[in-house]
Amino acid sequence: MAISRFLTALVFFLGATTVTVSGFNVTTRAFDEGYSHLFGEGNLVRSPDGRTVRLVLNRYSGAGFISSDLYYHGFFSASIKLPSDYTAGIVVAFYTSNGDIFPKTHDELDFEFLGSVRGERWRIQTNVYGNGSTNRGREERYILPFDPTKDAHRYSILWTATHIIFYIDNTPIREVARSDAMGGDFPSKPMSLYATIWDGSTWATSGGKYKVKYKYAPFIAEFSDLVLHGCRVDPIQQVPSTEHCMEANDELMAADFAIMTPRKRAAMRRFRERYMTYSVCYDTLRYSDTLPDCNIIPSEQGRFSESGHTKSPPRRRRSRRQNRMPSAADTMSQPIV
Ligand SMILES: *[C@@H]1O[C@H](CO)[C@@H](O)[C@H](O)[C@H]1NC(C)=O
Ligand SMILES: *[C@@H]1O[C@H](CO)[C@@H](O)[C@H](O)[C@H]1NC(C)=O
Repeated sequence: MAISRFLTALVFFLGATTVTVSGFNVTTRAFDEGYSHLFGEGNLVRSPDGRTVRLVLNRYSGAGFISSDLYYHGFFSASIKLPSDYTAGIVVAFYTSNGDIFPKTHDELDFEFLGSVRGERWRIQTNVYGNGSTNRGREERYILPFDPTKDAHRYSILWTATHIIFYIDNTPIREVARSDAMGGDFPSKPMSLYATIWDGSTWATSGGKYKVKYKYAPFIAEFSDLVLHGCRVDPIQQVPSTEHCMEANDELMAADFAIMTPRKRAAMRRFRERYMTYSVCYDTLRYSDTLPDCNIIPSEQGRFSESGHTKSPPRRRRSRRQNRMPSAADTMSQPIV
């Protein structure tokens, strides 16, 4: 018995590593301890220690992986390094979904990274769908305050019964609180975590104007510090009993990444004031009635035109020449699943 306990401890030690990454107290996993290859034969490459995964896009295929389990609420996180140079038309996505189980009423939470022509920056988009609300996209777009191709940065999605928070490193960049008015649009069924790279030539860069150029392939997105934290659910038992997840959900709600301190809220506001370039909440052409989860901030609203895009480029610290603004004509994406 002592030996088996020792072995269990050893396995635990080898597998899961509790580390403080970007200020969060989370346990990272090796790829084989929570994820499976989804598509792109040969285009998913693991590091020898199994803790870093490269997803490759070449002229034959993109690639993707999926969590081996479904989660009923959770914290999903990875450090991601994006491909550099000419990456127009490329989409890297890190998201949760249950579209393969509930094709008509699926839920989805997205981080989408949209490639760029050389010299311009990747843009990032978040989105929320619930119960098949595919005709009510909730896009927000941002530019990044750093070069996401130079170093890996941590991108995280927190999904609890009461709220959703998207993080970049330690900074919360978007919060969606559940409300009765939002109804089924708030994700409410178990989801899997996905990571993919694919050719989005038809829409990803300036509304499809710039396509993927395969002479620059392969394009590689690198994922590490993988975190899956939440209530694991049997895929067969698609709608879990709430008791089964009660303890895990309480733990999730009490974790540092689930608690919005005044300091974190201030950091979120600063990020959004500086880097948000589109918000569905200010797009009155698209939604004449503001979506119920929108928190209209008058001081922020002034920056946006009725199309939901910023009127003028956000203030910059670096030279203007290096950082031309994305086109306001960019089209919105479809749900990934
Ligand atoms: C980190 O989390 C673990 C378990 O989830 C807990 O035992 C430990 O006390 C936490 N450490 C800190 C510094 O909060
Ligand atoms: C989800 O959508 C289905 C089908 O449209 C509907 O019957 C159901 O009431 C919705 N659930 C919620 C929670 O809104």
